[in-house]
Formats: sequence, C-alpha cells, structure tokens
Amino acid sequence: MAEQPALVAERIVKRFGTLDALNSVDLQVPAGSVLGLLGPNGAGKTTIVRILATLLPADSGRAWVAGFDVVRQAAAVRRVIGLSGQYAAVDAYLTGRENLRMIGRLSGLDRRRSQRRADELLELFDLADAADRIAGTYSGGMRRRLDVAASLVVSPPVLFLDEPTAGLDPRGRAELWALIGELTAQGTTVLLSTQYLEEADRLADAIVVLDHGTVIAEGTAGQLKARVGGDRLELQAPHGQDVRLLAQAMQGLSSAPPTVDAEMGRVVLPVADGAAILPHVAARLAESGLRVSDLALRRPSLDDVFLTLTGQSSETPSGMDTSAVGGRR
Ligand SMILES: Nc1ncnc2c1ncn2[C@@H]1O[C@H](COP(=O)(O)OP(=O)(O)O)[C@@H](O)[C@H]1O
Ligand SMILES: [Mg+2]
Repeated sequence: MAEQPALVAERIVKRFGTLDALNSVDLQVPAGSVLGLLGPNGAGKTTIVRILATLLPADSGRAWVAGFDVVRQAAAVRRVIGLSGQYAAVDAYLTGRENLRMIGRLSGLDRRRSQRRADELLELFDLADAADRIAGTYSGGMRRRLDVAASLVVSPPVLFLDEPTAGLDPRGRAELWALIGELTAQGTTVLLSTQYLEEADRLADAIVVLDHGTVIAEGTAGQLKARVGGDRLELQAPHGQDVRLLAQAMQGLSSAPPTVDAEMGRVVLPVADGAAILPHVAARLAESGLRVSDLALRRPSLDDVFLTLTGQSSETPSGMDTSAVGGRR
C-alpha cells in the first residue's frame, strides 16, 4: 500500500507587503525521507517552514502534515512535529537540563519521563558535562545542539530543521550532520533547510532548490548534478610549463573544448566519462612530452548546479557582484 506523503504543500503563496516571499510553492516529502530545501538567504525557506509548522498563515494554497491540514487541524499538526531553527525556544536563563525537562513537561510527558528523556538527549548531543550550566553560557555549537535536542524531546515523526548548522564551524557542522543522519536512519521525516550545498548533498534524499520564493529545480543530488553535465577532468601544469600548450595537447579529447585557468595553471576538460578518457590523456601527454603535476577527476558539485541554475553562487548574498564567483570548490 502506498503510504501518504508525510508532508504536502500545494501552490503556497505568501506576500509580505509587495514582496512575493513564496510564489506557488509545491512540496512533497515521502514518509521517512529527508527533503533538503536549498536556497540562499531570503529565498523563502523559513517562511515555508513556518507555514508548514502552523506558525504563519499562507495567503493561498494548502498544506498537510501527516495528513492533517495545517490550518484546519493545526493542533493535530503541532502534536506530530518538532521544530528547530532560528526562532526556536531555548531559554538562555535555564540550564540545558532544565530546558529539556521543561519542554518535556510542556509536551505532556510526566515528571519521570521528562527527566529521563532530558538525560538521554544530553548524552546523545554530547551536552552531559554542560547540563547544569545555564544555556546562556553555551558556545554557539552547544546552543545549536541544545536547540536540535529540544525539537526531539518527544521524538516527533516529522521534524523541521531550519538551517540547523548555520554559523557552526566545520567540526560542529560535521558532528551535527552525524546526529541528523542517525535520526533519519530511525525513520523520522525531515524537512531540512540549508544554504549549504554539501549539507543537502550529504543528508537529503531529494532536494528542492528555492530562489526568490520559486522552486527552480528539484531532484536527487545526482539528478541536479547531471543537469550541469558530466565530470570534469582537471590537469595541473607543473611550475614553469605553459598551460596553453597543455590545453592544445588535449584538443579534441573532450565533449567540449578544454578551458584554461591561466592563473591556477590548470586545464579543465568537461568529459562524459572521466575514467574512460584517462588512457587517451596519458597518450597525449606522452606524445607531446608535456607533464602534469596533478590530475583530478571531479563530479560537478552542487555549487556548480546552483551557479548554472541561478547564475549566482549559493552562498553569495543577493545583490552582490557575482562575476568573480564560480570557481569555488
Ligand atoms: N515578517 C516578515 N515581514 C516582511 N518580510 C519578511 C518577513 N519574513 C520574511 N520576509 C521576507 O521574505 C523573504 C523570505 O524570507 P525567509 O523565508 O526568511 O528566507 P530564508 O529563510 O530563505 O532566508 C525575504 O525577502 C524576507 O526579507
Ligand atoms: Mg531562514
């Protein structure tokens, strides 16, 4: 039997004054899967999350969470969701332990169960040592973990994580990714909003790319990457060797002409099947007597995807000059 999607949004429209924050957004998230909602600042991620979490009414369109209408059955929706994000309620004057216990009590757990759940989460999120310090003294990463822990006190079947790793350093981000990965492995349905392409790539089963309130692309990470073409073979010229000679030697090998990055001393070949072309590259090098100091086969990143779709790098604030952006790895 086909299970109903855990989350459905149909033609959601939201305006703030004259600003179209959401233009007829459709979403579908199968139960037990992770949807990555990818978009730059101001794309409308938080707005759609708030609408689905019953915190904000849409101007038009409809949405259901676990089959419940987010407007007509808002109370039922609130019982099945957990929410973590920029506006979630962690009280800076309570300790980590007190925060989690209080949320447990407010969510209807009895005293003993809310205590036990708080202990489990403090352990899981590596906050046990800091459990009795007030949250106001926590580092950014610890607060972020407490925030996510707070959304899990009652193990909601549907979880909204709104930019859960924003502002974390790479290590904090990796730790939170591992945790989110564990949760999703247990069958929780997750709507994960993020500006980080790598995060969507790592955690999401499917990705919706949102830009200026409009869905501009959707699919798996692999499908999105396929839209920008195949692999890229990068040849690094050794110091002192003319990179243009290297490009000439590779002429005609790839599906499109090689491009030269003179500054980096690098030649990039767009190739349909990178592994198959390697022997030919080696033969051309032998014929020409040229050398390479490094050779890398790279799948297109979601960064390439974003650039192709929007003409703008994902992490560039809108309005900024993007002409120099695009080579970021
Ligand atoms: N309460 C509000 N009043 C006016 N404009 C808002 C409000 N909330 C969001 N916006 C605007 O709506 C757009 C989408 O915002 P948001 O959903 O927060 O984007 P994201 O979470 O993707 O950064 C932005 O241009 C933002 O400035
Ligand atoms: Mg936001």
